[in-house]
Amino acid sequence: MKVPFKLLIDGSTTSTAWGYAGGIKMEFKANWVRPAKDLGDVCPVFKKEWKLKKPLKEAALFLTARGVYEARINGKRVSGYVLAPGWTSYEKRLQVQRYDITELIREENILTVTVGRGWMRSPMPGFVESEEKKNKVEQPCGLWGELHLTYEDGNQEVLASDETWEYGESAVRFSEIYDGERYDAAFRTTDWEHVVKEDGWPTDNLLMQEGEEIREIERIGAKSVFETPAGERVVDFGQEITGYVEFCVDAKAGELIRIFHGEMLDKEGNFYRDNYRDAKAEIQYICKEGKQTYHPVLTFFGFRYLKLEEFPGEPKPEQFTAVVVCSNLKKTGRLNCSDPDLNQLFSNIFWGQKGNFLDIPTDCPQRDERLGWTGDAQVFVKTASYNYDVEKFFTKWFHDMAADQRKDGGVGHVIPDCLPGGESSAAWGDAAVICPWQIYLTYGNKQILEDQFDCMKKWVDYITGATTVPYLWAGGVHFGDWLGLDAPSGSYKGSSREEFIATAFYARSTQLLIKAANVLGKDGAEYERLYGNIVKAFRETYPEYLTQTEHILAVHFGLAKDLQKTADDLAEMIKRDGGQIKTGFVGTPYILHVLSEYGHSDLAYTLFLRKEYPSWLFSVKQGATTIWEHWDGIMENGDFWSKDMNSFNHYAYGSVADWVYEKAAGIRPLEEYPGFSRVLIKPMADRRLKWLEASIDTRSGRIASKWICTSDGIRYEIETAVPAVIQIEDKKIEVAPGTYTFWS
Ligand code: BGC
Repeated sequence: MKVPFKLLIDGSTTSTAWGYAGGIKMEFKANWVRPAKDLGDVCPVFKKEWKLKKPLKEAALFLTARGVYEARINGKRVSGYVLAPGWTSYEKRLQVQRYDITELIREENILTVTVGRGWMRSPMPGFVESEEKKNKVEQPCGLWGELHLTYEDGNQEVLASDETWEYGESAVRFSEIYDGERYDAAFRTTDWEHVVKEDGWPTDNLLMQEGEEIREIERIGAKSVFETPAGERVVDFGQEITGYVEFCVDAKAGELIRIFHGEMLDKEGNFYRDNYRDAKAEIQYICKEGKQTYHPVLTFFGFRYLKLEEFPGEPKPEQFTAVVVCSNLKKTGRLNCSDPDLNQLFSNIFWGQKGNFLDIPTDCPQRDERLGWTGDAQVFVKTASYNYDVEKFFTKWFHDMAADQRKDGGVGHVIPDCLPGGESSAAWGDAAVICPWQIYLTYGNKQILEDQFDCMKKWVDYITGATTVPYLWAGGVHFGDWLGLDAPSGSYKGSSREEFIATAFYARSTQLLIKAANVLGKDGAEYERLYGNIVKAFRETYPEYLTQTEHILAVHFGLAKDLQKTADDLAEMIKRDGGQIKTGFVGTPYILHVLSEYGHSDLAYTLFLRKEYPSWLFSVKQGATTIWEHWDGIMENGDFWSKDMNSFNHYAYGSVADWVYEKAAGIRPLEEYPGFSRVLIKPMADRRLKWLEASIDTRSGRIASKWICTSDGIRYEIETAVPAVIQIEDKKIEVAPGTYTFWS
């Protein structure tokens, strides 16, 4: 039976089995196939052999798998895409890749595809047990593929996965996202058997590759190999990365290499990995004879250090290379200034993004999570969209969000939604509205709003249906101001009232929904009334603001009656708090924006430049190379924060970069001109820095702003590819695209 097949290669949906190859519309007839026998932990390798019958014009391979795969034709990888088919809400959406393999074809050909557990069949997330997860892990691996051979005489032949394809055990003896990989270099597949067809698996969830490809984007040589006080042999790359190590070794057949990954050394200088929780993050490699080079292919790790538990000979730095694996994103943002510590912070922010934009926006790349936490993405999306071109990356994730949205409009804490429970939290679920709106603003593509509008609307309607008090968001289980520094002892949640935060976000999402409706020419009147009522109820219920985050939200979301006074009160509160930030995930992204916007730029810079705990630069002073989950992941006395929640690669607090772009350097998008087609440039210099510069390669060209403090005054150097309003202190000037210098 031919199952209806959905291909979205041109954005359309169809109920028949067709797609495009090289622009030609064609039918697919592949079947899902799987090993006839359960291979246990061993990753199967699938095989198809064929002979070329006549001169070939071109050849394409269409492929996907239940798991992650590595495909080779005649021993050569078909593409630089690693960990294909990426991570989507598989039940509803599974990407198919198309590779041009013309150059790889010979007269006699072998296609081999090794399939690991990947995200689909790994026990994710590590910290919950459920029947659903157990079933996921126990399901067999599968392959779906078609080879399309177009001959010079114009004829076409299709070799689609069916019972003629074979499988055997591969050299990858175990592979899984959290626990790592075991590889036997001497293993050769000798026993091949025919696969079986699996008609029970759907094909109507297949769609052509939608997101960015995941690729090896950078290589970093080891900085040192040393022995710790505890006698461990440790490799240091000097930079925390996400990806895997490639090592070269001269060994005897059968020798075992065992490597553990870690982010930090403890205060005694010993290898530390307790914060990986249940993720083993281990490589086991059984050597063949002689010189050999290896890196894992079907998994990834977050690490800076390697502990060589077992390794032949005297290891040297040149034997180890860290291979950075990330979605293939173009860098668009640049930040630089006269303070080396701030430059390290900027570097950490970019590395935090590279480390967590591996097909979906994740919380962290190392411990037994690595999930698409919606709140984290919501907090960081603006910075992310200035640093790199993430339009395609987020578009795919939004489609998964819409696919996973529950019937009542609720949005899960993580997307793809692999958590049981069916709850939604304020500031996490609000990613459904805030993220598409930001991606629209940064790139100016209305289609994003068009695609997501229903999902956005359903989210707002969900809150309206879920609250126990009309026009507030009362009730529900929320994460609050997650990891706020004003948290009561023993709690992860800051002191800001959960329902305060929830109602503020209810207002914010409703407001953005109205804006989206206006952009799309839809009727938003119902939501305008709702918005008015939420603001009224908010003001009546919360006449006072008790924490930094409460002040921040009341101003930033335009909810306070007197915005200026509330911002002034915030400034006073921060001073009373000893000039210290007390915010968590929810308040931190906006705190400096609010201060700068309402005449407290001085204080904003004081917080930004602060080096003592708590501050952005505290972690830099502690040697961070990425952004930490906690302001004090390593405390002042050198101890670690509790191991159960202490990632050293969590991008959320890196969201301060959007203040640097927008306020410090002053590159501000205008809502009426999405995609930076016109811009306001309003730098806010501070003499505690000698100079600062930022640039964004927007859809409309480069916009750059630099200020330099000299003894004669402040010089501003501005480059704009679009018409702009430049505002230096109180003076405004409209300019055409060009390069400008001003003095004040
Ligand atoms: C994640 C966070 C996430 C949070 C929600 C954590 O375990 O790492 O970043 O947003 O849970 O509570």
